[in-house]
Order: sequence, then C-alpha cells, then structure tokens
Amino acid sequence: AEAYNIEPSTDGDSHVSEEYANVNWDGLGFGLTPTDYMYIMNCSKGQKFSQGTLTRFGKTEMNPSSGILNYGQGLIEGLKAYRTRNERILLFRPEENAMRMQMGAERMCMSSPTIEQFVNAVKQIVHSNRRWVPPPGKGTMYIRPLLMGNGPDLGVAPASEYTFVTYASPVGNYHKGALNLVVEEKFRRATPGGTGGVKAITNYAIIYKPISEAKAKGFTDVLFLDAVTGKYVEEASTSNIFVVKENVISTPPTNGTILPGITRKSIIEIARVLGYQVEERAILVEELFDAEEVFCTGTAVVVNPVNSITYQDKRTEYKRGVGTVGQKLYEILTGIQSGCIEDEMGWTVEL
Ligand code: COI
Repeated sequence: AEAYNIEPSTDGDSHVSEEYANVNWDGLGFGLTPTDYMYIMNCSKGQKFSQGTLTRFGKTEMNPSSGILNYGQGLIEGLKAYRTRNERILLFRPEENAMRMQMGAERMCMSSPTIEQFVNAVKQIVHSNRRWVPPPGKGTMYIRPLLMGNGPDLGVAPASEYTFVTYASPVGNYHKGALNLVVEEKFRRATPGGTGGVKAITNYAIIYKPISEAKAKGFTDVLFLDAVTGKYVEEASTSNIFVVKENVISTPPTNGTILPGITRKSIIEIARVLGYQVEERAILVEELFDAEEVFCTGTAVVVNPVNSITYQDKRTEYKRGVGTVGQKLYEILTGIQSGCIEDEMGWTVEL
C-alpha cells in the first residue's frame, strides 16, 4: 500500500471516511463539484519535480507575472475514475495521459512530472476523494491534471518555476443527447506546426466563440476543418471524430493538428480486435454527405453519436443507437472502463 501524504485539515477529516459524499448523483453534468483534496507538486526550471502533497481543495497560488497567466504556458490532461458494481475503483490508461503530458511539455518548453509521479498523483487524488466517485451508472470522476509555468518571470521565455496541480470532480454526460454539428468555415482550431496536437490550455478558450455562434444557430458543437485547405475534417471542439461507411471506420490521422485522444486510440484498437477495417486518413468534408454513421470520441464525451452535420446549409443525418458500430464500440469501451467486461487489453488500473 502507498503512503498517502495528506496535510492535516483545519476542519476535521471525519467525513472523509463516509462511503459517499452528499451529491445529487442524478443531476451531474460536466462541470465542477468541488471535492476534498487537490495534489500539488513544484519544481524549478531544469530541476525534477519533488514529492508533492495533498491539500484541501481550494485556491492555488500563482505569481501575477507567471508564464501561465501571461503567455498561456500551460497544459491540461483529463482522465476518469470509474466505480464498478462491486465498489472497486478503476482508472483507465493513466500512463497514456502521463506520456501525453510529457509530449506537450516538450512542445511548450516546460518541465514535466515523470510517468510515475503523474500516475501517483492521480491515484492519490482519487483515493483521497473516493467518496466523490459516482455510483456505477450515475457518472464518473473526472481528473484534471494541470501543468503550469509559475513563478516570478515576466520575461518572454520558459518559466523559472513549474507547478503541477491535480484535482477531481464527479461528472455526468458532457453533451445532453446526440450531436447536431455544423462545419466551421470561419474559425480554425489548429495549424500545422502549432499546438493542436497537444493539450495546451490555449487550444480551449479559442473554441468558445465558434461554439457560441453555432449554439445561437441551434447546433450543439462545431466541426473544425484543416487550416491550410479548408477541405478536410479535423475534429470537433473537444473530441475526435470517426466516420463509418460500409463497415470501414475512418478518422483523421494525428499529424500535429489533431489531438491524439486516448479514447480515440482505444476505439481504434477495439474496432480492430472486432475485425473492422480502421483507416487513419484525411477525410474530405464531402465524405460526410454519404457516411452512414458519425461519432465523436473523447474522455469527456466518451463515444457520442452524431445525429446530423450541416455544411453550407446542407444537412446530413446519420444512423445512431441500437445496432450501430458506434453503439457497439461505446458498449465495449464503457464495459471495460466500468469493470463490467473483462479487461483483456490490460487498460484498467485498480486503485
Ligand atoms: C476531455 O477530457 O475529453 C477533453 O477534451 C478536455 C475538455 C473537456 C476540455
């Protein structure tokens, strides 16, 4: 068993031993329900992160001249903890998130935790907040590791100090129901050579404007096109996209402008085991007109069927629900994650 390094709390920890927190488990959406603890680790530029600590969830200190606040030198991760029907708690492929944070840190010139430090932080945050992991079927615990350039800097250069924070929140569905997407023709999400392929914090605030314009027209979300030609489909604002035609499953390749989703990768692997042909290739926007099924994948969205896509006023509808490829993949993925299906892939990590 690991030693959990919990700072003494000022208001008593007696409630932490309760089995479940007092939450309306049927009312969860995707947003913050504050939990008990967060995990913090610091390091100086060029040094390694040292032992972190669990502290009560609350505000973190940032220097006003920090890299994250001034220049967006920050990365996020996102993964989930799942409560099984027999009250075990599982993580899904946490090392993959750790590796992706390291890749992002390289791109953003940041120090990053080791794989072991990252996974340990995630385990500690789930263990210490375990009463906030929703009952099976009611949601999951979303874990948000955050790496930031911190410290007194101002200069336009990699930060002199780094802070790694991890916190968690119970969450429900990201989208309510099937998606009605609109192809975004004005705004772009990522450019070749940019940061679209890593979870830079700067990839997220830029999608609010396109999403709010789409929502004002009655759509759920946008589908971004490549920034060079505007001919190819890239991804939705926080999820990868898959199209299905004649039992062939296609998704854009992770060439630097596509976020290498862990759900994306897992869905590709499951589909191949099931015998589907999966192609990672550039997808022309016109191909959306004759696709049979389209679905989005992501840690937050899981596998979400697309009901319709609108491009230049032409609306195409897709199959969804019982019997679809997307539904089958969703059931297997969530079955593994929630411990209902035997994890032959070796993806889950028990707390
Ligand atoms: C995810 O965790 O699935 C994400 O894409 C992060 C997003 C909710 C900001």
